[in-house]
Amino acid sequence: MVKVLDHPLITHKLTQMRKEETGTLNFSRNLDEIAGLMAYEICRDVPLHEVTIQTPVSECHTYELDKEIILVPILRAGLGLVNGIRSLIPTAKVGHIGLYRDEETLEPHEYFAKFPKGLEDAYVLVLDPMLATGGSAIAAIDMVKKRGAKSIKMVCLVGAPEGVKALTEAHPDVDLYLAALDDHLNELGYIVPGLGDAGDRIFGTK
Ligand code: PRP
Ligand code: URA
Repeated sequence: MVKVLDHPLITHKLTQMRKEETGTLNFSRNLDEIAGLMAYEICRDVPLHEVTIQTPVSECHTYELDKEIILVPILRAGLGLVNGIRSLIPTAKVGHIGLYRDEETLEPHEYFAKFPKGLEDAYVLVLDPMLATGGSAIAAIDMVKKRGAKSIKMVCLVGAPEGVKALTEAHPDVDLYLAALDDHLNELGYIVPGLGDAGDRIFGTK
């Protein structure tokens, strides 16, 4: 399943991020806000279990989250989605995957991996703002699956059709959420119109 969450608030904030003149502070702030809005929608199907509690008035049969939620940002740019989601789900644990894309071959290279316990039973959200060729997302999902994760969603901001096709073919069981589906990849592997290099814009490295 591929879902584009093109709510007007998300689209407006993404437009601010796309603008060339938007600086690091506003870029990151809008990314935080979009991450929270996307998480609210993505978590609609998080399983609940029944609990009985006592309110100040009476006993109440109600529900609590049934599964642990684990966020797995792909370094570096995926880190930009963590705080916004954690502001809604403060109990979420965070694993990290370090991948960089070779500028020539566009192939992903792993340089770091650290996960909390319990991936097998958790609701796992893999985070990366950019889905270009799809190589990084596919490799990250391979890594969490290898460690037992079964319930996995991929959360991206901007996707290229090439990346969507590659990811859905490689991992048809993983739902993909985007804030926007863009037009194509250019000859350097950048999403067009996109927003440039997400990692550099979040961390001010260019
Ligand atoms: C960017 C982006 C994704 C990847 C997407 O990361 O954050 O991880 O490229 O491209 P793909 O779909 O073709 O794999 P990059 O490798 O530039 O690293 P960074 O986040 O450290 O800047
Ligand atoms: N990574 C980015 O940060 N931006 C792109 O457009 C493609 C890959």
